[in-house]
Amino acid sequence: MLIAGNWKMHTVPDAAVELARDVARRVRSHADSVAVAVCPPSISLAAVGEVVRNTPVRLGAQTMHEAEQGAYTGEVSAPMLGAVGCHYVILGHSERRQLFGEIDAGVNRKTLAALAHGLVPIVCVGETLNERKAGEEETVVGRQIDAALDGVHLDSAAHLVVAYEPVWAIGTGETASPEQAQAMHRFIRDRLVSFGAPREVEILYGGSVKPGNAADLFAQPDIDGGLIGGASLDAESFAAIVEAASKV
Ligand code: PGA
Repeated sequence: MLIAGNWKMHTVPDAAVELARDVARRVRSHADSVAVAVCPPSISLAAVGEVVRNTPVRLGAQTMHEAEQGAYTGEVSAPMLGAVGCHYVILGHSERRQLFGEIDAGVNRKTLAALAHGLVPIVCVGETLNERKAGEEETVVGRQIDAALDGVHLDSAAHLVVAYEPVWAIGTGETASPEQAQAMHRFIRDRLVSFGAPREVEILYGGSVKPGNAADLFAQPDIDGGLIGGASLDAESFAAIVEAASKV
C-alpha cells in the first residue's frame, strides 16, 4: 500500500515544513505496512526533504521538465528533484493536462526522463465526466496508459506507480464507487501487464479520498493505495487515511 499526499499549490514553505513534521510524527506507527509520500510545492521540496530525511516518509514532486537542464524558464528537472531527495514525481496529473496543456506525448517524455534519473513516476490517468457518460472511460484511460508508457521497460514493479484519478472526482467531493474504481483498476492492471509490466505495479486511486471512504476503496483487490489531494493538507485526516490503508 502507498498513500501519497498531493499538496498542489498550497502551503507557504513554513507551513509545508510544519505539515510534513506533523505527518511524519502521525504515520510513524504504520511505517511497516504502508509507504507514505508527501508532494509539496517545488519551492518547499528541499526544506520538506530535510524534515522527512531519516523518517519513513518519502518525498515527491508534482511535475518536472523532461530535459536535464537548459533554457526552460520556470521549470525543474529530474536531476534537481533527485538532488533534494525526491523519490517520486507525479506526472500527467489532470490539472497539468487541463490547465497547462500537457499532452500524452509530453507525459511519455517525462516518464522516460524520470525513470532514466532514478525517480519513480506516479503517472496519472483518468476520464472526464463527459467521457464516462459516453462510456469511453476504458478507451480514454487505455490510450493514456499506452502513450505514457511507450518505450518504457521496467526491471521492477517498484519503478512505476500509476494513479487512476477520474477527473469528475477530483476536488469535487464526488468519489468513484469502490466497484467503479475496482473495475478501472483491473482494466489498468491488465493493460500494464500487456505492456510487459509486472502485475505488482502499484495502482493508486485518487479523487476525493477522505477518512470516511478510504477503507472501502482500499478493500478492493486492485486498489493499492491512494493519491490524496484536499485531505492531505490536514495531517490528522491524512494520517487517518494511512491508518485505513494499514488495516487492509
Ligand atoms: P482530491 O485530489 O483528493 O482533492 O480530490 C486528488 C488529486 O488531485 O490528486
